[in-house]
Amino acid sequence: MSKKNSIPKHIAIIMDGNGRWASKRGLDRSKGHLKGYENIKPNVIYAKKIGIKCITLFAFSTENWNRSSKEINFIFDLASKVIYEESKFLNKNKVRIIHLGSIDNLPEKMIDRIKKSEEMTKDNKDFTLAVAFNYGSRDEILRAVNKIIDSRIRSQLSEEDFESFFMTNMLSNPDVVIRTGGEKRLSNFLLWQSAYSELIFFDKFWPDFETHDLDLVIDEYNNRIRNFGS
Ligand code: IPE
Ligand code: IPE
Ligand code: MG
Repeated sequence: MSKKNSIPKHIAIIMDGNGRWASKRGLDRSKGHLKGYENIKPNVIYAKKIGIKCITLFAFSTENWNRSSKEINFIFDLASKVIYEESKFLNKNKVRIIHLGSIDNLPEKMIDRIKKSEEMTKDNKDFTLAVAFNYGSRDEILRAVNKIIDSRIRSQLSEEDFESFFMTNMLSNPDVVIRTGGEKRLSNFLLWQSAYSELIFFDKFWPDFETHDLDLVIDEYNNRIRNFGS
């Protein structure tokens, strides 16, 4: 069979291993988050350059509230700073920013920055950067069901109708889900949307993930045969 040479349209990444990256070096976990956030930009720019159309990043899960308030606050401050500092650059590069997840309990300053970055970039068509922050797939599905109940829809829904209530409604399903950090689980990420995604795992921690690894992902993707049940 001849080797395919296609570029996945949408890659979703579970950016795991920041804490262990730091601990391995005798550093505070916060240093791993710092390194992890610094590693987003080069990979997003590279993804756009090679023709990927959308990257979704899992940055904070609904279960990450179980961490210490020190770590949570550090992540919130860091994420707010990065959104503020990088929005203009991303806008210039025709990147649309979308937030996936709930704004419930997020700091006001962060909500404001998220809204402004979404508004500033809303007309960009070249590339979408979806940031899953305070996101959980079960939460998303439950919210969809509750919206349907509130809307008093009484007719039967198709899968497409149901998906239209998801936070991901303007995104295609991910062709590939990558997880760094060695764990082989989804941890409540895009459970519905990844039904037919190719899953690719890296042992390396997220701060060590390089643009070259995206090339490996593309190669691996092209080696997989996607049947969709047929
Ligand atoms: C991923 O890295 C970032 C978040 C979940 C916020 P971790 O913080 O989970 O790092 P490890 O898995 O403990 O190494
Ligand atoms: C998944 O990583 C969430 C993010 C990367 C944001 P976790 O570190 O929270 O996942 P578990 O707890 O190991 O399953
Ligand atoms: Mg982890």
